[in-house]
Amino acid sequence: MKAAWYEQNGSASQVLNVGDLPDPVPSAGEVCVKVLASGVNPSDVKTRAGRPLVAPRVTPHSDGAGIIVSVGDGVAQTRVGERVWIWNGQWKRAAGTAAEFIKLPSEQAVILPEDTTFEEGACLGIPALTALRAVTIDGPVLGQTVLVSGGAGAVGAYAIQFARLLGAAVIIATVSSSEKASVAMRLGADHAINYRAENVEERVKQITDSRGADRVIEVDGAANSGMLPGLVARGGLCVIYGSGKPQVPFDFGPMIQIGAAVRFFVVYELPIAERTVLVNALNAYLSHGMLEHTIAARYRLDDIVNAHEAVESGTLLGNAVVVFDVED
Ligand SMILES: NC(=O)c1ccc[n+]([C@@H]2O[C@H](COP(=O)([O-])OP(=O)(O)OC[C@H]3O[C@@H](n4cnc5c(N)ncnc54)[C@H](OP(=O)(O)O)[C@@H]3O)[C@@H](O)[C@H]2O)c1
Repeated sequence: MKAAWYEQNGSASQVLNVGDLPDPVPSAGEVCVKVLASGVNPSDVKTRAGRPLVAPRVTPHSDGAGIIVSVGDGVAQTRVGERVWIWNGQWKRAAGTAAEFIKLPSEQAVILPEDTTFEEGACLGIPALTALRAVTIDGPVLGQTVLVSGGAGAVGAYAIQFARLLGAAVIIATVSSSEKASVAMRLGADHAINYRAENVEERVKQITDSRGADRVIEVDGAANSGMLPGLVARGGLCVIYGSGKPQVPFDFGPMIQIGAAVRFFVVYELPIAERTVLVNALNAYLSHGMLEHTIAARYRLDDIVNAHEAVESGTLLGNAVVVFDVED
């Protein structure tokens, strides 16, 4: 099969190869999926750039979608032919979705609702599940004010939509441009604050009558943690799912005075019971056509270096997806 891989950490152009690898054969409990779209996420490029390799040769990308072509012992033959989306494709595994085929445990290939395209299916495992977790963790947002930092990002765009669907009363997004503000507002934000041009704390105070947001969903903990006491309501929740740097400093005094809670999580490590709830909820939204997917750029597998560089640049307005033809 045609596949991409790397054998050492480094820049995309230095270490990514595209060529032929043996076709995978599913073991007991596994399915083999013909990949038709492979999502490229920031963690895929960070893993390639500098995280310890899980195997001597790694095919990147955790997200993807395609069709089950064969199954191992113990998996119902009826799964063959199913359209599926994939979670944790490359998490702690050597073989991700940047390949014509991937084999993985059957439960990691979830039925892709009929009207959801393969490209859209390749945005679910990380961006959509992370957003749904961030919006739902530690209680409902019904009637609450939710602040989504980086609201036009891959995760942020879904977070705005889930907050809307789950009944948040007011949704505030931070963005860096008027184009991103339009995206955030179209997806359901009531207010978009340009964090580069405006004073975010002042704007949030104005919007919330000085109360602050009940829940802040934070894309960059290192850059923005200092602002959190000025953004979050008394007893509110800061859900931090991303950080541009390893250290996330807090002002202890202001944080304890408002009694803020801080939650970190990584989507790869969701406990199975919680993942099942989120996956089922996500598929229900998809089945009812309730989500908009922001696909910013499509690449061929031969162009995977450009795909990684585009994600690294941080300039995409949505997800990057590597697409395969059915006959590839
Ligand atoms: N915990 C998890 O399980 C999990 C899951 C998915 C992603 N992540 C992490 O979350 C981050 C975002 O992922 P993504 O796929 O959504 O990336 P993305 O599509 O690049 O989106 C990031 C968004 O955040 C904005 N942004 C950057 N710095 C910001 C700041 N200081 N304040 C407010 N907004 C800022 C960016 O736009 P501007 O630069 O134009 O503002 C962009 O719109 C990455 O670090 C990723 O590794 C974690």
